[in-house]
Amino acid sequence: RRGYTTHSQLPEEHRMLYEMCRRFADEEIAPNAGKWDQKHEFPDKVKDLAELGLMGICTPDEYGGSGLDAMSYAIAMEEISRGCASMGVIMSAHNSLYLYPVQTFGNHEQKEQWAAPYATCASDDGSLKIGCFGLSEPGNGSDAGAASTTATLDGDEWIINGTKAWITNAYESGAAVVFATTDKSKKHKGISAFIVPLDSEGFSLGAKEDKLGIRASSTANLIFDNVRIPKENLLGKEGEGFKIAMQTLDGGRIGVAGQALGIASASIDCAVNYALERQAFGKPISSLQSIQNKISQMVNARDAARLLTWRAAQLKDAGQKFTREAAQAKLIASEAATMCSHQAIQILGGMGYVTEMPAERYYRDARITEIYEGTSEIQHLVIAGDVIKEYKG
Ligand code: CAA
Ligand code: FAD
Repeated sequence: RRGYTTHSQLPEEHRMLYEMCRRFADEEIAPNAGKWDQKHEFPDKVKDLAELGLMGICTPDEYGGSGLDAMSYAIAMEEISRGCASMGVIMSAHNSLYLYPVQTFGNHEQKEQWAAPYATCASDDGSLKIGCFGLSEPGNGSDAGAASTTATLDGDEWIINGTKAWITNAYESGAAVVFATTDKSKKHKGISAFIVPLDSEGFSLGAKEDKLGIRASSTANLIFDNVRIPKENLLGKEGEGFKIAMQTLDGGRIGVAGQALGIASASIDCAVNYALERQAFGKPISSLQSIQNKISQMVNARDAARLLTWRAAQLKDAGQKFTREAAQAKLIASEAATMCSHQAIQILGGMGYVTEMPAERYYRDARITEIYEGTSEIQHLVIAGDVIKEYKG
């Protein structure tokens, strides 16, 4: 059983997408999520995500995508992640971190070659075309401008050296958007973005990280040892890489907020259904006031976070500035996911602590949303920085 949602107030196009994703999550994803998590198995249902047009959801239709807006993306991310948060991150890294910068900063040839096949996600041999985003490094994550990976121009080729750390979809990707320093003396203004085919000579993958949560998605180092790529694979202009990364992360944070909302919603469904059935002291625990307080806190936090997420998406769709609002949405939604999954375990008691019920997975999956695409501390910096700038005028 699921509760009332605010989606009924949305325009028809968004409601229909919501219904499609909701059904798909309930019927195809959620029943398998526990198995994928336990086996650390890449979900075979990513193929169906592609068939539903969700692996190119915001890519323009001329480049093979569904051409939908950021609101659609937020709605779809919540529903898919409600079924399985690993599938949520696979979808978000591919759409908002790989496809977005290629389709936004790429020239026509780059979009034809590196966006179009990835937006349909289909290869001739039946395998999936997935992309990833390499910004973080072993020595720097939050301080994204301190990139030590280098790119040096040699004739008609860039030579890339260095290691990108923690990369989502690393094991399944055919290409990556990679940020590297082309001029160290210019600090963040010397960083450039590149499209790197991952079958290039000199490229290798690190070991798969053994993670607390989102265990059905792969995370690994991308290692570049004199990797040569064509000169044409520079994305945008030389020195524009940091801004490309920041602008990409603004949109990406709406996706992670959606993922966190999905985990929060799944936790609420699980906890309320259990509370209605479970008897203690001769009555359902849902009749106890302290359980009702928890339910109220969970739904309030999730709904407030959803409104922030939808506001950020609507600003993006209106072509307005949304950096602060995306950071707020990501911060508040990730905290809501952590709180809701924590309280879901509390409401389930012992049953919350074992894999027989999904609450423990929600708790493990929630935690990453406060870390990646900028930790909560970094979101506070972004939000406060923007507020202070506004007051200074
Ligand atoms: N859009 C456009 N430009 C921006 C911008 C934005 N959102 N934010 C900053 N800039 C510009 C600034 O205007 C400034 O430009 P000028 O040099 O022309 O003045 C320049 O970038 C430098 O800005 P700052 O001085 O604010 O930069 P900083 O070095 O202090 O860093 C930061 C700012 C917000 C902390 C940034 O480093 C950051 O976002 N760090 C977190 C990194 C992160 O989120 N990584 C996520 C990796 S992906 C991931 O995790 C994947 C996953 O989830 C699956
Ligand atoms: P650090 O930057 O070392 O931070 C450590 C602590 O210090 C944190 O609490 C942080 O908030 C705090 N801190 C740092 N600087 C400040 C400051 N100025 N003010 C206050 N506090 C501060 N990266 C990619 O590029 N692509 C991916 O696809 C990707 N996927 C990921 C998937 C997973 C599962 C994980 C775990 C990470 C992924 N990341 C990815 C990396 C992720 O973005 C970074 O882990 C994150 O940005 C934090 O960087 P860090 O781990 O180096 O922590």
